[in-house]
Amino acid sequence: MRIDLTDAKPADSDAELVCIGLFDGDALPEPFATAPGAVDAKSAYRKVVVLRPEKPARIAVVGLGSREDFDPERVRVAAALAARTAASVEAASIAWALPDAGEPDAVAAALVEGTILMTYRFDRYKQPESEDEPKPEVESLVLLGAGDVADAVEAARVASEAENRARELQDLPGNVATPTFLADRARELASAHEAVSVEVMERDELERLGMGGLIAVSQGSAAPPCLIVLRYAGGGDAAPLALIGKAVTFDSGGISIKPAARMQEMKMDMSGGAAVLEAVAAIAELGLSINVLAAIPATENMPSGTATRPGDVITQHNGKTVEVINTDAEGRLILADALSWCAEQKPERMVDLATLTGAVVVALGSTYAGLISNDDEWAQQVEEAGERTGELAWRLPLHPEYKELTKGTITDLINSSDKRKAGPLYAGSFLEEFVGGIPWVHLDIAGTAWDVGREYQGKGATGYGVRLLVALAQGVERG
Ligand code: BES
Ligand code: MN
Ligand code: ZN
Repeated sequence: MRIDLTDAKPADSDAELVCIGLFDGDALPEPFATAPGAVDAKSAYRKVVVLRPEKPARIAVVGLGSREDFDPERVRVAAALAARTAASVEAASIAWALPDAGEPDAVAAALVEGTILMTYRFDRYKQPESEDEPKPEVESLVLLGAGDVADAVEAARVASEAENRARELQDLPGNVATPTFLADRARELASAHEAVSVEVMERDELERLGMGGLIAVSQGSAAPPCLIVLRYAGGGDAAPLALIGKAVTFDSGGISIKPAARMQEMKMDMSGGAAVLEAVAAIAELGLSINVLAAIPATENMPSGTATRPGDVITQHNGKTVEVINTDAEGRLILADALSWCAEQKPERMVDLATLTGAVVVALGSTYAGLISNDDEWAQQVEEAGERTGELAWRLPLHPEYKELTKGTITDLINSSDKRKAGPLYAGSFLEEFVGGIPWVHLDIAGTAWDVGREYQGKGATGYGVRLLVALAQGVERG
């Protein structure tokens, strides 16, 4: 989407829909107070009323509620409602008068985010309903009277477009978005950015590296697995920030097969990998002065005559042995190899994103991702990055008693216990065995990656994590 900044007044804008926010207790600004329809304008949060002044052609008055409750999340929602209104009146260009509250940088960024995220559609498999011209989409956004917010706006644009690309990867079905498809996307983004290089490790190399987890999860599938590694070099010889994303391109559960109901949604079990891929693209596009090492273990989890059985014993990349109790607890097995391999490269810090447990959805719903960490300061940085972008994360504990649950009788570890206790924490404790003591955050995004239902996300894929990772990288850049 095209974004411009100008000092023009709303009345002078030639956008097809000009948007102004209205706070409780405020009057409509002149000259709109007397425009047809003005009496209907409401300040209540989420209310949108369209006025027809002489000029511009249409004004959308978007209720912002009370000034005390105002924050960037409300701006994202207001921007999304305005974009929906634009679509309904077939307006291809939007102008927004920046609300005079909050931090201008953050408010301008949130307007851009809400607008761009709202325009996401996944309709490539639908025949058009009529032969007529397709409906115009919102193509441009002008921020009026925003002042010096150009850098914040550009970062928000790049990160939001990247988040929409991650959503597309999530939405693509398992027969299209295979591990090989994701590897091709990684190659594509490496060739688009000078500072990005890519390496795709295939089965023979994974075997050579002793990645018994990734091999075991993939062996029931006809689709070859891979470990996708991206390196972004923007920070000289500084140790990299490591980003790890679970990419199970379809999780049937394997031999411990899932029930049929809603199994189709398990095409989104690569959401962590998609977020990492597109975050790297955004970081490169913004040219941030940091180094990034990204690792995306990609595989299907399928049942077949060659699939891993419950009871099989595997050896992970760091030499720890695991008895596979439940083949549906596959994410931790592939992440274990990827984390341990990354830890060997001596990154400064690590973050992994994974749709890891159904239990985190039970605990935190779609509002917060579960955050587990071995490092208070790093945990806080990730949490704060998420607060800035509205991609929230809530810290959950590690404790030696959870670790007890993961211990095996014939092996070092078991991948699942039958105690049904503390699912997300069990998984976090398991992963901690593979991070080599490096400051690490695990984000369990099973609830936040899909069907969140916020105005700017709707049903389906959210791209959770792309904007958070970009904000986090910006924080690391500032030091
Ligand atoms: N991919 C699933 C987790 C998931 C559930 C993601 C719902 C998105 C929405 C994961 O691989 C899984 O199956 N986890 C099991 C773990 C259990 C067997 C210990 C679960 O949560 O049931
Ligand atoms: Mn599973
Ligand atoms: Zn899974």
